[in-house]
Amino acid sequence: MSELRWSVRTSFFQYLAGLRDGRASVSDGATLTADDPQLVVYPADPDRSDDDVLAFRGDLRLSGHGGLLFVRLANPRIKLRTPAVLSVDDPLTEDGSGPRLDLVTLRLAADDEGGWSGTDVKLTEAGVGLFNHVYAAGDAFDPLIVR
Ligand code: HEM
Repeated sequence: MSELRWSVRTSFFQYLAGLRDGRASVSDGATLTADDPQLVVYPADPDRSDDDVLAFRGDLRLSGHGGLLFVRLANPRIKLRTPAVLSVDDPLTEDGSGPRLDLVTLRLAADDEGGWSGTDVKLTEAGVGLFNHVYAAGDAFDPLIVR
């Protein structure tokens, strides 16, 4: 297990790209790929992973509307249960010092390439406020891959 590949929700990236001051930036190991502007790659964080949790590191920051819009999706972790739950560091502060947020639930299944695919990815009730209440709880987010 070496990385998490996720485009979060493509329509959100497209919305940001359309803002005059929309920005996506990555640090702490997370990368954006050249061929797919929406895809974020978070490397594995073995020290924080165990039998129940796949942990990744890296920090994605999305901003726009003169700073009114700020979303930090950093150090994602997937709890292996049914459904699985992907959480991120406190997404609203610069240093992520508040409590982690359970962002989406998903169905994880072993794929043909020795990794996992996450489907049926849905926004949690707790995640609704992060996107300004534009999406409802249960709304579809993008599928993800762990490999
Ligand atoms: C100055 C404040 C804001 C204005 C004027 C504004 C305006 C808009 C408009 C016009 C749309 C529709 C865009 C379209 O359909 O093409 C939209 C969508 C959206 N806005 Fe904002 N917004 C503001 C702040 C925020 C903030 C703070 C967030 C928090 C993350 C946010 C999250 C979203 C989301 C998630 C969508 C839906 C994107 C999609 O998936 O299509 N907005 N906003």
